[in-house]
Formats: sequence, structure tokens, C-alpha cells
Amino acid sequence: MFNKRTKIKDLLAQKPEGQQVTVMGWVRTFRNNQFIALNDGSTNNNIQVVAGLGKFGDELLKRITLSASLKVTGTLDPSLGKGQTMDLNATAIEVLGDSDAEKYPLQLKNRPTLEYLREKAHLRFRTNTFGSVFRVRHALAFAIHKFFNDKGFVYMHTPIITGSDAEGAGELFRVTTLPFDKPPRNDDGTVNFKEDFFGKSTNLTVSGQLEGELAATAFGDIYTFGPTFRAENSNTARHLAEFWMIEPEMAFYDLEDNMNLAEEFIKYIIKYGMENNREDLEFLAQRLAEEEKQLPQDKRSEMGLIEKLEFVLNNSFERLTYTDAITILKDSNHNKKKKFQYEITGWGMDLQSEHERYLVEKHFKKPVILYNYPAAIKAFYMRQNDGCAEGQQTVAAMDILAPGIGEIVGGSQREERLDKLEARMKEMHIPVEEMWWYLDTRRFGTVPHAGFGLGFERMVQFVTGMTNIRDVIAFPRTPGSAEF
Ligand code: 4AD
Ligand code: MG
Repeated sequence: MFNKRTKIKDLLAQKPEGQQVTVMGWVRTFRNNQFIALNDGSTNNNIQVVAGLGKFGDELLKRITLSASLKVTGTLDPSLGKGQTMDLNATAIEVLGDSDAEKYPLQLKNRPTLEYLREKAHLRFRTNTFGSVFRVRHALAFAIHKFFNDKGFVYMHTPIITGSDAEGAGELFRVTTLPFDKPPRNDDGTVNFKEDFFGKSTNLTVSGQLEGELAATAFGDIYTFGPTFRAENSNTARHLAEFWMIEPEMAFYDLEDNMNLAEEFIKYIIKYGMENNREDLEFLAQRLAEEEKQLPQDKRSEMGLIEKLEFVLNNSFERLTYTDAITILKDSNHNKKKKFQYEITGWGMDLQSEHERYLVEKHFKKPVILYNYPAAIKAFYMRQNDGCAEGQQTVAAMDILAPGIGEIVGGSQREERLDKLEARMKEMHIPVEEMWWYLDTRRFGTVPHAGFGLGFERMVQFVTGMTNIRDVIAFPRTPGSAEF
């Protein structure tokens, strides 16, 4: 058997008393032809392997280079040196894979920038920063499943390829096997998708919500957790063309129930990370503090990462209507001094991320839930609020805005009344006939229901303090970039 090894994280938790162990990992440093810092990705902490002088031949020692992979057997003893509590005194060292240190793209001593590491995304997992980020990402994904499982939600796998545009925003990646130089055409010149693979026009999903609603109206509580795709040409630090979204959908929920669940959910994820990934978060907090030292004073965060996460856990999110938010923005000094790039034109306008961030970071200084948005700027499926003034129709939508990120959650109570839903779909040019399956839930035992979508990468950004979304997903897909 090859894989009889102890993970370094577990090793470091042991009491060193001469026990024999085997570890495998990659060389981080090799000093004085004797001391190897070995890392296996289970933690940022390395085990110090001691290759006693004279015990190993020069041929072998020469092959112990940056990022070479080793199998080491030895005894775990209390360390004589400073900086570590234990040494692994090697009795056998096997080089599993050589690494030409001169050619290795990540020379750790030069402190590669995050931008540089993005171009070396195939190797960046071997750095401390990305080791921590992706262990935290894993833990948060696990926490999400645990949260819903403990509450009796059913995990639904909704399709990746679909014929519908759940958000109605037209930001679709088309899926087709038709020859794109000469597709079959209808008499009127349009492409004949009847001849396409699925016999219709299809795209990658932008959201699993619509299918999620079908399941929620049978199971009660469901969630999805899968990749979603948007062909929006947004080259920002918060947008990906391929991102992961968690979409719970609950029957017998109204907007307030929905907000309560979303707030509890976000806090649960943060708490899980704090309890299970403390070491990584402390490392990331330090990294962020270093990064912020480069910024002018007024651009630095008021709180450190850990402090911020604790603050979010211990305070309730501010809840206010869209209408109240517009009033605050309009009356703000920031607006009066014309400091917004996008003018506050008044009720009905769509909020830009600078407006959202003003509310969260400058005005309330905590996460904010905005609700009851104008119908005109939201998706067709949102429940139309009753009793709105003429020209002021709102829907039971809610967005959660987080400091440093902006929108992290978007959700709503759904329109469960068939007549109102159909009328709205027609107004918004959503193909009512094609959506017969969706409308059937409103025909047969319709119920009040609600749900939301949490952008997983934005959540990971929030917890890890990484400022660019490309640094919290292994291989980011963004406009002009699909490497690896
Ligand atoms: O607000 P959105 O578009 O809502 C929906 O898709 C609904 N169907 C959700 C629901 O009610 N079930 O997207 C939800 C969240 C956003 O708040 C944001 O966190 C994230 O998904 N998101 C993105 N994350 C990364 N890159 C992008 N291009 C994103 N677009 C949305
Ligand atoms: Mg949204």
C-alpha cells in the first residue's frame, strides 16, 4: 500500500515522543542542506524534516528542491531548534517527483502578487494564501449543506442546460451543436433550432430557481447548490461568468420569513468558518492587514477581518425598504457634494454598487437588507405588493448587501397568484406558453412561497477578505479569460 501517510495537520497535533511516521508533501524550503520545510496542503504549517548530516548522499540531497515532492519516514521528536515544537528526524527520504527550482514559476521569496498568481492558477494552491482560501471555501460549502440538512431541506440538482432564462436578463450562454458558420434556417432567415441537439434553443442556466420552485411546492423546503453562468460583460472584482449559487426555496414562507432565514444562514456560515478554520482565517486576516497597509488611510477597513466577522455575527442586519434607502441616499452629504458617479435620480432608479456600498459602509456600517423594490427593475416572478400607489408598484424582493462586497444575496417572495403572474409575464415579454410547467404550480395547489440566491464566491470573499472574486474560485471564467 502506497498511501499510508499521516497528514501534517494531524502530525502537528501529536505529542512528539519518538514515534515513527511517514509524511508526503512538497518542499517549501531546504536550508543548510539539512532542514526541509515540507507542506502537504492540510495546513499552512510545515513539518520540519531533519536530514541528519552525513545520513543521506549528495545525489539525493541535490534533488530536494523547491516544490519537489517527497516521501519521508522518520521519528517525531521534540525540536531542539526555535520556531517549531517538533522535528521529523528522517530515516528514509524518497523523491517522488523532481522539481527544477530554477524553472519553478512561483519563487516564493519574491512574494508574487495576486495578479501574477492568477496567471499561475494551476500552481497557486501551493501558496499559503491560496491554501487558506481554498480550505475555507471547502469548509463553507460543507457548512452550507450541513445548515440545510439539519433543517430538513432537500438538496435538488437542477439542470445546467435549460431552455429558459430565469432572470429574464438575456445574459445567456447558448448551448448548441449546430454548425455556427452555416446553421439551418427557417424561411424567415432565423436559425431553425428544431434541428438543434435538443430540438429547441438552449443555454447554460443563470439560476436554478424556477426548477427549485417546482420542487419546493412538493417537498416544502429545498435548496440548490450548483454552477450558474452569466454572459454579462462585467469586468469587476465581484463578477464571474461562471459562479456557484445556493438557492433555497421554501413553501409557506413570506418575505419576512425569507429575510430571517437568509440572515440566519449567512451567520451560520461565518460561525462555522470561525470555529473550524480559525488558523486559516487568522492567516488571511494578517494578509489583508498587510495588503491594506499599501492603501491610503481613508481606504483601509475600520476593522480587521476577524473583528469584522465577529461584528457581523453579533449584530442584526439593518432592514429597510428601497424607498427609505432612496431617501437616505438623496439626503446624504455624499450626494449633495455630487460624489456619486451615478446620480441619484429618485424613486424607480436601479441602485448602482457605489450606492449600495455607501449605505452599508458609510451610513449603517453593517450588513443591510433592502426590500420592496420597484417592480420595473426586478424579475417577473416576484410577488406584486398589494395597495401600492399609482406608478409606485413594488414587489416583495430583498437584497442583502455586505460591507466590502455589495450585493451578496438576491431573493423574493414569489408571485403565487396565476392571474397576476401571467399578466406580469406578458408585460415583460416572457414566453408564457413555453413556461406552462412553471405556471402549473400556480394551477394545482399554489402556495405562498419564497427563496433567495447567495453568490457563493461573494460569500467566500466576505469571509476570507479577498478583494478580487478571481482569487476565491480555482479557475475563474471572466470576459476574455477561460484559461486552465
Ligand atoms: O440576484 P440574482 O441574480 O438572483 C437570482 O439569480 C435569483 N434567481 C435568486 C433566487 O431568488 N433564487 O443572483 C443571486 C446572487 C447575487 O446576489 C450575487 O451574490 C450572485 O448571485 N451573483 C454573482 N456572483 C458572481 N458573479 C456574478 N456574475 C453574479 N451574479 C449574481
Ligand atoms: Mg440581484
